[in-house]
Amino acid sequence: MVLKPVRLTMLACLLSATFALAHEGATGVVKERMDLMKRQQDDMKLLGDMAKGKTSFDAVKAAEAARDVSLTAKKIHELFPEGSAGHPSDALPSIWKEWDRFAGNATSLESAADELASSIDGNAAQDWKAGFQKLTDACKSCHQDFRAKKKESEHH
Ligand code: HEC
Repeated sequence: MVLKPVRLTMLACLLSATFALAHEGATGVVKERMDLMKRQQDDMKLLGDMAKGKTSFDAVKAAEAARDVSLTAKKIHELFPEGSAGHPSDALPSIWKEWDRFAGNATSLESAADELASSIDGNAAQDWKAGFQKLTDACKSCHQDFRAKKKESEHH
């Protein structure tokens, strides 16, 4: 019969697709938060280039980037379920020991981003850089406490 091997092949495909999905699910949340952080990094780069004068200030784009940081900051809480540290993640176990502080950092990031967005919307073309600095500090202070250092030589 020709049908049988065809069916078996289909079954094998279906099974491996299911397996691939399950495998992705296991690392999914870690990948998701890495992607989210990378997206925030892109937003910060856009703002940083404007702050340094590398690119000219564009209020629409700047406010959009700030709003995107706020939007993504809201998702940080749910992307760090307990037990999701370990390779390949740089998340430190202290996140779950000091969850309130960690979650507080995410909330601070969100409000700093909201403030920046509204100061740009309010046409504060002059002092938006202070708000941007606050945002940078919010990223740094969480990384300092809750993200594994890549290099031993890093001081703070
Ligand atoms: C509430 C804490 C917290 C805040 C706030 C935060 N981060 Fe992170 N970030 C982390 C942790 C924890 C990791 C490690 C995640 C992992 O590897 O699982 C990380 C990882 C990253 C990474 C590496 C992603 C990768 O591919 O490995 C980048 C880039 C990054 N953050 C950028 C930012 C930027 C930019 C901001 C500010 C706009 C920010 N983060 C704010 C906690 C935070």
